[in-house]
This record gives sequence, structure tokens and C-alpha cells, in this order.
Amino acid sequence: MNIVGVYSIKGGVGKTAAAVNLAYLAAAGGARTLIWDLDPQAAATFYLRVKPQVKGGGKSLARGHADLDDLVKATDFPRLDLLPGDFSMRNMDLLLEDAKRPTRQLLRLLRPLAEEYDIVFLDCPPSISLLSENVFRAADLLLVPTVPATLSVRTLDQLMVFLEDYGHARDLRVAPFFSMVDPQMPLQTGVMERVARRYPQTLVNAIPLAAELEYMGVHRLPLPAYAPICPATAAYVALWAEVQAKIGPGARS
Ligand SMILES: Nc1ncnc2c1ncn2[C@@H]1O[C@H](COP(=O)(O)OP(=O)(O)OP(=O)(O)O)[C@@H](O)[C@H]1O
Ligand SMILES: [Mg+2]
Repeated sequence: MNIVGVYSIKGGVGKTAAAVNLAYLAAAGGARTLIWDLDPQAAATFYLRVKPQVKGGGKSLARGHADLDDLVKATDFPRLDLLPGDFSMRNMDLLLEDAKRPTRQLLRLLRPLAEEYDIVFLDCPPSISLLSENVFRAADLLLVPTVPATLSVRTLDQLMVFLEDYGHARDLRVAPFFSMVDPQMPLQTGVMERVARRYPQTLVNAIPLAAELEYMGVHRLPLPAYAPICPATAAYVALWAEVQAKIGPGARS
């Protein structure tokens, strides 16, 4: 089972869009796929038309008492399951602080699912917190959507420094990718070149700024399900191929 975190300190950069679309493509390609909505906003849950409800709430997750098998919901798509998020997860950090191994709960909860899924996507809330540290521990690969703009790149630098300082960088592979790329914006090309130089593991495929993406919330479907032929879908397909090549066999658990 490969665990892929879709994470950024910054909000509104395309994490949920990437998590849902890549999970959809993974499942469509034959992988038994789970997407875990870790965000109290429960946007991935909304997109996949599942009721935002966590039995036992964030508390049972943080204490490691939950059996994830009981919480998993099927989606409308073959091989794609969802662990929904709900508002009770807003206190995850406080709840995790009381846990015995506060940075390892997520991995502990996920381990029993290792035989059931080929790939798990973690749709993470913005910010850097105890929950994020759980994601850093659990994930084999961390995808970091990065808008090619100064403030977004600054949070990528902050993340990289954090991961180095805390030694998480040891087993965790971090792969930034560009999100919401807009050819009309004059500074973006230079920013992307600098980031790719600083972080050579930056993925080659980028997601363009595209009006079609906004309709995910209207249709409540992954983009490739309602717009199979458009440049943004093609970009996610290419990104997924690149991610697949990166994760390969031999990931943790
Ligand atoms: N490539 C894109 N082009 C245009 N709009 C996009 C693109 N990707 C995402 N969006 C839109 O931008 C908004 C934020 O996207 P999304 O929810 O995926 O970001 P996020 O990083 O998960 O946000 P949050 O930090 O709040 O969880 C949404 O309205 C979404 O439809
Ligand atoms: Mg989100």
C-alpha cells in the first residue's frame, strides 16, 4: 500500500482538487484506492457525494480507537473508497496532543488497511500542525501543490526547512508540483524555474489554471468524470503517470 499525502501549509492551492482527481484516475486505472478526507471542511467528501460524518468523531481517530474499516464509504466509482471528513476533525490537534504517540496515530490507523488498498491519498487541511506531522510520518510521498507565486513558494521553503529540521525528510519523499499555472501571469515562469532548480524533485507536469475545475463543486464529480477531454484533465493524467512512476513498488507498510 502506497500512502500519498497531498499537502501544503497554504490554503486554496488545489490540494483537494488534486487528491480527488488523482484518486479517481488511480481507481480508473485499476488500483484499489482510498481517499482520506482529513479536513474539517470536508471538501473531498462533498465532491464525492458522501455524507460528512465520522462515527465517533475526531476523538476516536486521534486516540487510535477507530477501526477505519467501519468508517470507509464506497463512492459512485469502482475501486474508489472514501474515509469522510467532518467538522469534529477541527480539534484534531488538541485531541492528538493527548494521544500516546501523537505523531504516529494516522499510520497506526492505516496499517490494518494495507491488504485492502493499493494506494491511499490523504487530503490534508492547510497549516502545519500535529496532524501534518502524522501525515509526514505516514506518507511515502508528499505531493505539494504550489502556485508559482511568491507567498506560495515561501510556504514550500518553510515546509522543506521544517522537514529537514525534524528529520522527516529521511523516509519521506517530497514532490512539489505547480498548480493553477496561468500563462497570463508574467512572473510565473521565472518562479517555476527557480523552484525547479532549488528542488530538483519538482514534478515536470503542472496543473493549469482552468475554469473547468470550478465545476467540480457544481457537478460534485472528479474533473475527468465530467470533462474527460480537456487540457486540465490531460494535465492530471500526466501528473498521475509521473506520480505512479515515483511511487513504484516497495513503499512502506
Ligand atoms: N487548476 C485550477 N484552476 C482553477 N481553479 C482551481 C484549480 N484547482 C482548484 N481550483 C479551485 O480553487 C479552489 C481551491 O481549490 P482546492 O479546494 O482544491 O484547494 P485546497 O488547497 O484544497 O484548499 P483548502 O486549503 O481550503 O483545503 C476551488 O474552488 C477549486 O475549484
Ligand atoms: Mg482542501
